[in-house]
Amino acid sequence: MSAYRIAVFASGEGSNFQALAEAAAAGTLGGAEIALLVCDKPAAPVVQRAERLGIPAFIFKPKDYESREAYEREIVRRLEELQVDLIVLAGYMRLLTPVIVQQYAGRLINIHPSLLPAFPGKDAIGQALAYGVKLSGVTVHFVDEGMDTGPIIAQRALEVTPGANAESFANAVHEVERELYPEVVSWFARGLVTLDGRHVTVAGAHGQK
Ligand code: GRF
Repeated sequence: MSAYRIAVFASGEGSNFQALAEAAAAGTLGGAEIALLVCDKPAAPVVQRAERLGIPAFIFKPKDYESREAYEREIVRRLEELQVDLIVLAGYMRLLTPVIVQQYAGRLINIHPSLLPAFPGKDAIGQALAYGVKLSGVTVHFVDEGMDTGPIIAQRALEVTPGANAESFANAVHEVERELYPEVVSWFARGLVTLDGRHVTVAGAHGQK
């Protein structure tokens, strides 16, 4: 049986990309492999991580294309060539158009650093702290055409302790992300995830914590 193939889309640091790659190498990604990194920022640290790990990358500059749809068509062409099963957004800082969202509906996921539907959009950690919440966390969700509005697959909550500052809380959130995202991807690779309207079911006693 051929491996389950994922493409990771990232624009920045790439710590989630690294965690996924390490899980794949350790055999804890449900048998999934990272077939491609897609990155819109040639100077982003994630590009060097992919090089070091020997993972193929498609790196592009949006301004070299006449429209968002034009570069997304190019991305889809490459994903099809590699027979990618799942797109995993990990800090990809661009809104997707229907070119990708429709073609990969149900096969396109994102990780967001808050308990959605609270604090969608940019700087979710800063938004949550500024609001004064006592609990925030991490959400992995399907991507639809809205901003962080797709069906929720998994969430982990984190307490905002009295002494927390932006940096310490962000570190705690990122640590949870690096644990949760590989786990969720492994559920997909093992065929455990079912989507029904807004409701996501993960088969098996260990699917949901
Ligand atoms: C993560 O906090 C993720 O939740 C958000 O973007 C950040 C990416 O971090 N979508 P990294 O590039 O994986 O280190």
